[in-house]
Parts: sequence; C-alpha cells; structure tokens
Amino acid sequence: MKKLIVANWKMYLTLSQSVTLTKRISKSQITNHKLRVVLCPSFVALEEVGKIVHGTRVKLGAQDVEPEKRGAFTGEVGLDDLASLQVEYVLVGHSERRRIFHETDALVNEKLRAVIKAGMRPILCVGEPHGVRTQGMAKVRRYVGTQVKTGLRGVAKKDLRRTVIAYEPIWAIGSGKSDMPEDAVQMHAWIRKVVGIKSVRILYGGSVSAKNARAFLRAPGIDGLLIGKASVNLGQWRAITHL
Ligand code: PGA
Repeated sequence: MKKLIVANWKMYLTLSQSVTLTKRISKSQITNHKLRVVLCPSFVALEEVGKIVHGTRVKLGAQDVEPEKRGAFTGEVGLDDLASLQVEYVLVGHSERRRIFHETDALVNEKLRAVIKAGMRPILCVGEPHGVRTQGMAKVRRYVGTQVKTGLRGVAKKDLRRTVIAYEPIWAIGSGKSDMPEDAVQMHAWIRKVVGIKSVRILYGGSVSAKNARAFLRAPGIDGLLIGKASVNLGQWRAITHL
C-alpha cells in the first residue's frame, strides 16, 4: 500500500500563495511514485488548486464540509460544491473543529457518513488532549476508542475500507513536540482493532517535520502522515516527500 501524505494548509495561506505552492509541489511529485499526496487548501483556494492538480498524481482534499448539500446554511460549504470541484478527500472532526467550533462526535459522524455517501473519502481525525495522556495509555485508548467508534457509527464494512483515520494527539498538534513513534504505533494498532478491519488506512499527525517523518513512515502500521505547519514550507515538504 502506498503511503498517504496529507497536507492540511488550515488558514495559513492566501489564494496566490496556495497556487504558487501547489505548482511547485505538483511538479516535484511527478517523479515520486511511492507516495499518494493529498492537498487540503482553504475553501477559497480549492478551485484553483484543483485546476493545477487534476490529471496529476496529487489529489484534492477539503478541510471540512457541511453535510447538507444545499440550502439555508449561512457561511457553510456543502457536499455538492466539493463534488463539483472534484474533491476526493475530506477531513472530518479535526481537533481544531472540535475544540474551537464545538463539533460533537455526533456531528462528526454525520459529516463522515455524508462524505461517504457522496462518493468521497473521509479522513476521520481523532486524538486525546494532554490531560488524558498524562493519565496513562489505558485512558488514551479508551478516549480515542470512543471517538473512533462514534465517528464510524453506522458505516458499512465496505465503506470502512475507503475511510482514512488520522491519529493526532492534540498536544502534539502545532506544538513542535510530536508523539514518540513507538507510542503512535501502539495507538494505531489499537485503532485498527477498534475499527475491526486490518486494511483500514491510519495516518499519524501532530508536529510532523522533515526531522521525524522518516521514523513515522517506517514504523509498523503507520500508513502515512497528516501534516499541518511543515506542509506549507516547500523545503520541509520536499524533504518529507522525498525520503
Ligand atoms: P501540525 O498540524 O503538523 O502543524 O502539528 C497537524 C494537523 O493539525 O493536522
């Protein structure tokens, strides 16, 4: 299975910066057959980034979605809009969405099922806060296990195979302090057990950089990376994707 590298550009870049970075990335990806790369720009940049990557090996992803297709939902971007831009992957339940925008497990599950129904692939983000990690790995397993179970509630087995899970300890996101690969390996094995499907793809995220990416990519059961900050830096990105 090819490793999946997902760039979460959050709200870091302007439209023109997104376009410039995409052009550089898609050029350098042409020679890299070992990875599948997904770029998740802001909604504003999706269309232009899509125009550059369509027909290349680089895939288009969205950072969030409103599960309703169309209607009176001020400020939201719906599934039909993403589909019309040929978005293939959608992040759901990112910890910033859960924490800052108060998304519940139930809403995350609704989004995930809507993404699957629309024929796209969801990337379900899960991970524990620092306060849970300090209580030990048994507590972490329980916390993350609940997020996985509720996030995937009602999803058919065949659709679980199309679903990606990203394990991102919240304390590791944007902190410069990633998890230890051996702890992440343990969590990936646990998540795989909870999902009940060996082939489900599970990524690690949280302060991934050129320095630690190799260790995560080589670790057993880690099928790829979800990268925030380092993915908007071309030097970091090149180093990570050409390991
Ligand atoms: P980070 O973000 O790589 O900047 O820690 C990861 C994420 O939020 O997905």
